[in-house]
Amino acid sequence: MAEQLIPLPRIAAFENLGLGLFVHWGLYSQFGVGEWTQKIHKRPVAEYEKIAATFTAADFDAEDLARTAKNAGMNYIVLTTRHHEGFSLYDCCGLNDFDAVHSPAKRDLVAEFVAGCRKYGIRPFFYHTMIDWHWEGQETVNLSEKDFGRYLDYLCASVEILCKNYGEIGGFWFDGTWSRPKSDWQLGRLYGLIRKYQPETIIVNNTGLEHLGEYGHPEVDSVTFENNSAKPMNRTGCTKYIAAEVCKTMNYHWGRSENDFAFLSPRDVIEKAAHSRGCGANFLLNIGPEAQGRIPDYERSVLAILGKWVALYREAIYEPRPVTGVKCPGRDFILQAGKTYYYFAFDLDRQGDSNVMQSAHASALRGVCNFFTGKVKSACWLDDQSAVEIVQNPDAGVLSFYTPGFTYGSNTVVRVLKIETK
Ligand code: GLC
Repeated sequence: MAEQLIPLPRIAAFENLGLGLFVHWGLYSQFGVGEWTQKIHKRPVAEYEKIAATFTAADFDAEDLARTAKNAGMNYIVLTTRHHEGFSLYDCCGLNDFDAVHSPAKRDLVAEFVAGCRKYGIRPFFYHTMIDWHWEGQETVNLSEKDFGRYLDYLCASVEILCKNYGEIGGFWFDGTWSRPKSDWQLGRLYGLIRKYQPETIIVNNTGLEHLGEYGHPEVDSVTFENNSAKPMNRTGCTKYIAAEVCKTMNYHWGRSENDFAFLSPRDVIEKAAHSRGCGANFLLNIGPEAQGRIPDYERSVLAILGKWVALYREAIYEPRPVTGVKCPGRDFILQAGKTYYYFAFDLDRQGDSNVMQSAHASALRGVCNFFTGKVKSACWLDDQSAVEIVQNPDAGVLSFYTPGFTYGSNTVVRVLKIETK
């Protein structure tokens, strides 16, 4: 039975990481019009690659990045070590010169990234493109099968460098097999190489916008819900327990886009992070650093607010897991860790005075989860420890409680009720 699949230790540990930071940074960041600019704005390779000459990475501070993620409650960072443009933030060790050490930056930025992560107890993950718009001056999508085979040799050699030169890596995050769905990407060879050097690393392969949550090669450890919302996982028929991850842009581009103002609000981010955890998925929130690596002010502020939310509800966010069968109203859900349950309440009303805030209501019925069979001992809001009276109908397995919602003085968007059972 699918529910009885036990996650491998590395996959359980990945789920416990809970929240991660996605970082899209490369030469494209200098144009400031998104990471697909080479392709979408039809920039010829010979023109495009000239932008490497102004890549100084002067504002890239890996320790600051890791600290910012840590303070946001994140436990891993996925950095674009090479994106579709083909430029590597790592030292390609002679495979080609299209890398950070041969640019004015003259630094191995992946080495700095890994060191920064280690300092703050963050697991470093490597995003690596599968497709390439630069290799031998062509796009991999147009290569003959024979040339594509040679490209795969190059790809494997690149990944081998990442496996060998940076110590223990939290995971590899691949992207782009969707570009040649009929080709043999020799994934067994690529993943075998990784397992040889990094047996406990997590392998993710982004299945793309049209194949959310789909399973792929058996070596893959997590499905992806690219730029979307998680769905509860159905592991029926799976040969191993596989994790899930939602990756989300803060606006409509992954890489820096100067004129994209359509940002998520902190409220959106908190709701999406919570919803992901409700489905048992990790939440990987993206930022697009500026040209030379600076974290943009708005993204930094949102991360700080997310961190304040996490600090209030920390014990509910990482280890607790979804409970099968319990149904809650609206967007609410329950997570479980042993005998303790965490009720995540969305869209709560606000208590106060109608002269100062709209919709200031008295206590409203809340909860009403069906099939909740745990016998409640105590319940309180995690943020201020205030007690909440629970009403249980043992025969129907129904749990409910009254709440005025947020009291005047705070509104944490998604509020978490801790319920201890006997
Ligand atoms: C897509 C895009 C890419 C981005 C990725 C993140 O596959 O091609 O630009 O890196 O999604 O999920």
